[in-house]
Amino acid sequence: MLGCDLLAKLSSDHDVVGMDKDEIDITCEDDCRKAIAQVGPQIVVNAAAFTNVDGCEKQKEECFAVNAGAVKNICVACHGKNIKIIHFSTDYVFDGKNTHPYTEEDQPNPINVYGESKLAGEQYLQALSGDYLLIRTSWLYGVNGKNFVRTILEKAEAKHFIQDTAARVKATPDEPSYLSVVDDQIGSPTYTKDLVAAVDLLISQNQNGIFHVTNRGHCSWYEFAVRILKEAGMDDVEVRPIKTSQLPRPAMRPAYSVLSMQKFITLTGKTPQPWQLALQDYLKNIKKMQ
Ligand SMILES: NC(=O)c1ccc[n+]([C@@H]2O[C@H](COP(=O)([O-])OP(=O)(O)OC[C@H]3O[C@@H](n4cnc5c(N)ncnc54)[C@H](OP(=O)(O)O)[C@@H]3O)[C@@H](O)[C@H]2O)c1
Repeated sequence: MLGCDLLAKLSSDHDVVGMDKDEIDITCEDDCRKAIAQVGPQIVVNAAAFTNVDGCEKQKEECFAVNAGAVKNICVACHGKNIKIIHFSTDYVFDGKNTHPYTEEDQPNPINVYGESKLAGEQYLQALSGDYLLIRTSWLYGVNGKNFVRTILEKAEAKHFIQDTAARVKATPDEPSYLSVVDDQIGSPTYTKDLVAAVDLLISQNQNGIFHVTNRGHCSWYEFAVRILKEAGMDDVEVRPIKTSQLPRPAMRPAYSVLSMQKFITLTGKTPQPWQLALQDYLKNIKKMQ
């Protein structure tokens, strides 16, 4: 999801070589070494990850191999070659006990395997690279790949279908006619297009270190779902708020994972747009693509 948008945006100002999993398996040290030798980059951007948060609980080894071991491989391959490494991490490195936005100085304390693996990746990067940008982001959605916005739109479309069918055949469908979404997890939805613009800016200013980058503002997943349907003109589909405890999932999620943007705003002089405007922008863009 993020990699495709990065490739498109950064290619307009830089010579970019995009590599997919069939060209480079980043868990393979030799693949990383060969890729760096072949391309001779000034900057390496790693958008690859094992991102299935629930899947990580069962596939711990694979998850750590991609989210942590592979970061080490990239650092080793870049070592001594004056290469900047740009790497992405997550709000899920925090435990969610804060009541105010997490800053770059706050202590991570992950509560699921995905968060633990991403934190281990961060630690490799910080220990092994002399020039890095570590960008923590949250609740990503983009035009490519599976994401919450797409899921809500697809589920709402299915509910429309059920409602139509029920009206026609006067049958009560097994599926409820409403969507249930948790309202006790708070975060910041982030459009990949805005994140990529922020990455481009950080590169142009030659920034380094840790940065939190999301769209501005925060909401619960429930509020996000309601807003998605409103903006998509599907607010006839009812969304009901539920608690995380009513929706058992393999991985625990932080209750509050809002990231403070203060450092980014102060050092770059730019403020990302609010999540509500980013969502409108995204919905317009996916409509254009249909
Ligand atoms: N999505 C979010 O909500 C979110 C939130 C916070 C932070 N982030 C971080 O943002 C970054 C981008 O996330 P995303 O959502 O764009 O991820 P994504 O859509 O899941 O893409 C990750 C890509 O990495 C590839 N990959 C997996 N293992 C690989 C390997 N061994 N070698 C090479 N490529 C491999 C995957 O290929 P296959 O699909 O073929 O396996 C996939 O194309 C990640 O670092 C993620 O942790 C994401």
